[in-house]
Amino acid sequence: MKKNKILVTGGLGFIGSHTVVELQQKGFDVVIIDDLSNTRIEVLDGITAITGVRPEFVQMDLKDKVHVASFFEQHSIDGVIHFAASKAVGESVEQPLKYYENNISTLVYLLKNMTKNKVPHLIFSSSCTVYGQADELPITENAPVKKAESPYGNTKQIGEEIIQDVTKVFDLNAIALRYFNPIGAHESVEIGELPLGVPQNLIPYVTQTAAGIREELSVFGHDYPTPDGTAVRDYIHVVDLAKAHIIALQRLLEGKNKSKMEYFNLGTGTGSSVLDVINAFKKANQMDVNYKIVARREGDITSAYADTKLANEELGWKANLGLEEALSSAWQWQLKQK
Ligand code: WQD
Repeated sequence: MKKNKILVTGGLGFIGSHTVVELQQKGFDVVIIDDLSNTRIEVLDGITAITGVRPEFVQMDLKDKVHVASFFEQHSIDGVIHFAASKAVGESVEQPLKYYENNISTLVYLLKNMTKNKVPHLIFSSSCTVYGQADELPITENAPVKKAESPYGNTKQIGEEIIQDVTKVFDLNAIALRYFNPIGAHESVEIGELPLGVPQNLIPYVTQTAAGIREELSVFGHDYPTPDGTAVRDYIHVVDLAKAHIIALQRLLEGKNKSKMEYFNLGTGTGSSVLDVINAFKKANQMDVNYKIVARREGDITSAYADTKLANEELGWKANLGLEEALSSAWQWQLKQK
């Protein structure tokens, strides 16, 4: 039987690479497009080491309209999982045009080519940032989308709206997956999070501090209205997150979606503060993390964690791996870095 061929844009990135592994292990044929702007080609070796199958890889900037068009003419694609985007919240505030160009125009070119070539299924990498600071916790998919706190968050909101409009007039079905905070690494330690430069996100900064690469972790704020004063997030293991993408894709391939565009929150349903993470890291790895409390980071929200009911009931998916397992895998991955 012919295998479904899936295009994974940004497939050498953190979540993308873990999703490619799960796709291959579920029998899909995968082709990756990545511009290598925020990852390394060696990730392809990591994927191959895990699955034994080297995915087809095309280095391409999705802003290159001509190249994108010729790609779709040369490949018969059954579905697309679209990760490729710039994703640093702070950087997006300083360089908004980079984010609007890279995250929005590439989505438009992708959709133009998908509709022209009748590629019927799209999984879109979205984010819980679309909710801003939600009024109610845990956060459901019906929570109002609020004005984004950053151009990065705005590109996710605009991206969802663009896709929604396209599904209304084209033969396209889409699912937006709204991630909470992806962390951890594959158990094989062949792939993981690869922040190039100074990490923006908490977990890579924690592991680099424990490894002595960073002097100490700055904890951004100790005066939030939370149990210990530090901000709360829903940290989800990247492998759990990757598995949800396969389930969502199969939902579309099997025509089980209940509308042409659906939205699912992907989190564990548990909120953890920054100090909770530091303590869990210590417990999981018997490693201390030097830290100091500093001022809040501009644009950060107090608390976000997912209501997982819809994904549990509609997708039949839930996160299985806990915070300590994620922090242990992140540490093993850090130890492997040169
Ligand atoms: C987590 C918590 C910080 C670093 C963003 C995006 C989201 C997704 C993940 C792309 C916060 C605190 C952090 C540090 C700290 N982006 N922190 N010291 O901001 O919740 O989410 O990244 O996939 O869409 O919005 O993640 O890891 O940056 O921060 O105290 O050195 O850790 O204040 O409370 P965030 P984060």
